[in-house]
Amino acid sequence: MNTEIVNFPDQSSIERAGRIIKAGGLVAFPTETVYGLGGDALNPESARKIYEAKGRPSDNPLIVHISEMQALPGVAHDIPDAAYLLAEHFWPGPLTMILKKSDSVPRETTGGLSTVAVRMPSDRTAAAFIRASGGFVAAPSANRSGKPSPTDVLYVIEDLDGKVDMILDGGRSVIGLESTILDITEERPVILRPGFITREDLSSVIGNVSVDPGIIGDDSRSHPKAPGMKYRHYAPKGDLTVVYGSREKVIEYINKRLKEGHERGLRTGVITDETGLSEYRADIVKNTGSRDRPSEISASLYRILREFDDEGVDLIYSEAFEGPGLSQAVMNRLLKAAGHKTVNADQNE
Ligand code: TXA
Ligand code: MG
Repeated sequence: MNTEIVNFPDQSSIERAGRIIKAGGLVAFPTETVYGLGGDALNPESARKIYEAKGRPSDNPLIVHISEMQALPGVAHDIPDAAYLLAEHFWPGPLTMILKKSDSVPRETTGGLSTVAVRMPSDRTAAAFIRASGGFVAAPSANRSGKPSPTDVLYVIEDLDGKVDMILDGGRSVIGLESTILDITEERPVILRPGFITREDLSSVIGNVSVDPGIIGDDSRSHPKAPGMKYRHYAPKGDLTVVYGSREKVIEYINKRLKEGHERGLRTGVITDETGLSEYRADIVKNTGSRDRPSEISASLYRILREFDDEGVDLIYSEAFEGPGLSQAVMNRLLKAAGHKTVNADQNE
């Protein structure tokens, strides 16, 4: 397939993209979180194509993207008041809500589930594209299965060139981590995937919100409710370990392991905040930005993981970036990338 790549998409190219979707084709598009791989959410054949292009098992449901509130009853029924309240506060934006699916949404789109994930992105290209596509765009993140979600069009091209009809360039994704997923189909709302919209944000609008215990634990032992959370999505090729502990001990521990790695002829990498840049004796040291501004870390994490792959790094150590709010999402993705391999430097010689 010949993929058309559109830099600086204007209204006429966005309308062309919309016609591709309506005709059952695929278009990758930017959003404020990560790039999406879009198809017509109401067309079962489009869902099948998405799974094929992505190389993803078809039991993993897709998010339906809308561009206006009137579209919501088109894909969901028995919509609780909480959904409207949340939409008022966080839509358009990086929040996905799980609702009861209406019959118009094919099972192919929801991976066989009777519920549907819905999100209204704030990115302007995304909104115009969804409108041009008829209002309902099913899209997973635009990476090939097993790679980090793409936060730059370069990575979309790397993964999907030749597999989709068109790629809309929107530069770098501002947030850099996938949307928060909140299940509101049951009495008590549950976060299925942490993201930019935090538990505290959600609780301030609809009261107590809990977190699916399945997303906190080790992947191999937990059973997350969002089917996609069970896959080891974000693993870099290199062996990644997250190191907790006091600053001094973390630096000491990592440098010791790096030295051993070099002795074994391995290519090494470190992920640190800006204050650690000159502390580590690795082949490549990556800067997440400031630890005090987790939005800088979220915006750079997936790019860093991809770069390590391209640079052929075998052994990677990352500092831990713990904290409230968005740091929860950052650590969720980092720990997934590490396959939950962690060390506490304070308890290690
Ligand atoms: O920010 C985002 O959400 C991006 C952009 C493109 O919008 N999309 C994204 O899609 O991350 P994807 O497919 O990579 O992740 C969707 C997640 C998966 O873990 C999937 O299992 C879960 O949402 N999901 C979708 N529908 C669901 C449902 N009905 N019930 C529970 N989980 C669902
Ligand atoms: Mg994904």
